Amino acid sequence: MNILGIETSCDETAAAVVTDGVKMHSNVIASQVDIHAAFGGVVPEVAARSHIEKMLPVIEEAITGPGMRWDDIDGIAVTAGPGLLGSLLIGVMTAKTLAEVKNKPLYSINHVVAHTYANFLIEHKPSFPLLSLSVSGGHSHLLLFQDYLDYRLLGQTLDDAAGEAFDKVAKILGLPYPGGPSVGKAALDGNPNAYKLPKANLGKDSLDFSFSGLKTAVLRTAQEAVGADFKLPSTEIAAKLKPQQINDIAASFQKTAVETLVDKLEQAYLKFQPASVVIAGGVAASPALRAAVSERLPVEMHYAPMELCTDNAAMIAAMGYHHAKASLAVDPADLQVDSSLAI
Ligand code: KG4
Ligand code: ZN
Repeated sequence: MNILGIETSCDETAAAVVTDGVKMHSNVIASQVDIHAAFGGVVPEVAARSHIEKMLPVIEEAITGPGMRWDDIDGIAVTAGPGLLGSLLIGVMTAKTLAEVKNKPLYSINHVVAHTYANFLIEHKPSFPLLSLSVSGGHSHLLLFQDYLDYRLLGQTLDDAAGEAFDKVAKILGLPYPGGPSVGKAALDGNPNAYKLPKANLGKDSLDFSFSGLKTAVLRTAQEAVGADFKLPSTEIAAKLKPQQINDIAASFQKTAVETLVDKLEQAYLKFQPASVVIAGGVAASPALRAAVSERLPVEMHYAPMELCTDNAAMIAAMGYHHAKASLAVDPADLQVDSSLAI
């Protein structure tokens, strides 16, 4: 069964064709990173306009690239939320229209849950029960899957998402957007023990995360490092920091953020004893997070390639296949976007 996946929840316009939830024929991603980098973050209006321009050519390429035609497509899966409202609308309106015009069943997909499905597109498939740490710019969730569509939320961030913390720290340090890769790069030349930063303590049984205290601690540390007090605006710090201070703060922040994530992942592993563990979402592209997970967890880890960790439509198509198998098609006339769609 060939499913066309469509993804426009944030700043990537993406389409992909996947067979039976495991075999990827195409994974086309038109990234807007260069457009938004000038603003230091995603500008929702700009993102929506760019999706309008790129959506149809991206879908066309996803189908014709591997030599397929519309007749080969058995269903359409689209991200209905969570994400930026204007961005989501472009993908959902396109998918609804195509489902009607091409007479294909339509499947409504939760972006956050779908991130985990990237791990079924690699050679080593995870088995159930499956523990997933899904961490990106918009969310940080620990999920336990008993089966493909039988999952529950074990814990989540109470404030900032992990990727959001990377992005905000990058801004304070004057490093380019997106913050995850640029903080990771600076950290390579920094001392992770140069600054002692706090890990949120939410109680020993909690599987929730918190990153806002860490972000504030980075701000105070950077202000102190340049000899200023807390009144110095965050936008004026970077120019006063020495390159080594930037690298040291980046390394100290990254170490603390990664430990925060891996502490909870390990705690959930010990509690639920899953057969497999995966990490998913943009932050799962972090080499530092991967190294820490492999070191701390007594389970063999297999990581999806970077382009399947960050936003893509192959993960949407992979999850769409399981919606198709479970006969979960939705009526195109009824499908609505939900920018804060829950798990
Ligand atoms: O999943 P994703 O592409 O989009 C959302 O659904 O949010 O994740 C984007 C986030 C950004 O915050 C970015 O800084 C972070 O993932 N990210 C990384 C890395 N690559 C992307 N964080 C840490 N290390 C990376 N190498
Ligand atoms: Zn995402």
